[in-house]
Amino acid sequence: DAPYETLLVETRGAVGLITLNRPKALNALNARLIEELALAFEAFEADDAVGAVVVTGSEKAFAAGADIKEMAEKTYAEAFLEDFGAGWRRITSCRKPSIAAVAGYALGGGCELAMMCDVIFAADTAKFGQPEITLAIIPGFGGTQRLTRAVGKAKAMDLILTGRMMDATEAERAGLVARVVAPERLVDEAVEAAAKIASFSRVAVLAAKEAVNVAQEASLAEGVRFERRAFQALFATDDQTEGMAAFVEKRKPAFKNR
Ligand code: CAA
Repeated sequence: DAPYETLLVETRGAVGLITLNRPKALNALNARLIEELALAFEAFEADDAVGAVVVTGSEKAFAAGADIKEMAEKTYAEAFLEDFGAGWRRITSCRKPSIAAVAGYALGGGCELAMMCDVIFAADTAKFGQPEITLAIIPGFGGTQRLTRAVGKAKAMDLILTGRMMDATEAERAGLVARVVAPERLVDEAVEAAAKIASFSRVAVLAAKEAVNVAQEASLAEGVRFERRAFQALFATDDQTEGMAAFVEKRKPAFKNR
């Protein structure tokens, strides 16, 4: 029923699962796919039954980047006037947590999409890179900023200036990837983690994500102050009362997201 041409979109329990599905183009991110991805994220964001989102690709490619064939003829004026790349804000403004489950190539915009998600799980086949320099452009969907924050200046410069790929082990060691798993376990592991997240109080989950993201933007003092206020505010929720009562009474909590 969903109007998606470039994605497979389903729910698994309380988890929204988005599978990029342009296999012949290695899931290259064309305008249609980006629009559909934004719509799918927004639909899960609006769906009370969904607590977290997983984004994955195929065994061969998470996504091989922005669609080069579509971009090739663009002029500066066109790119500027359509504000090429701004559509991604619709994904990064979602408040529910997202996990990127990456197998195969995550290059250019593909690596940038993975980094827009809150957590990256990688199959041991994953290859990350920002090869834009080989096309005489630079990353345009946040790569120079998010990769540098994730792995530090040394490795970000190395990857972005040489265009080389790094494998899952290197990406985990560098702090880009949270978990490396066997390819056949990748989607299940991500969906299980997302289901776990979705089982907690949504108020606390969204507050936790928001607070961690403040660390990307703020000074330590400001970040710690933000965290303390958010932490204190959670004592106003029924879920906090329930969570602590359940612990004391040695039973499972029943969260109501309020
Ligand atoms: N855009 C459009 N089409 C792409 C694509 C892309 N980013 N990546 C792969 N494809 C297409 C290929 O053109 C090919 O199509 P045809 O069968 O019609 O020729 C098909 O997908 C399969 O690709 P290959 O034959 O190249 O597969 P391979 O296994 O030999 O190589 C690869 C795989 C190393 C990933 C190679 O496809 C590749 O280098 N892709 C481009 C990677 C890249 O440069 N990404 C950055 C894009 S720019 C960007 O993302 C900008 C930004 O930050 C906003």
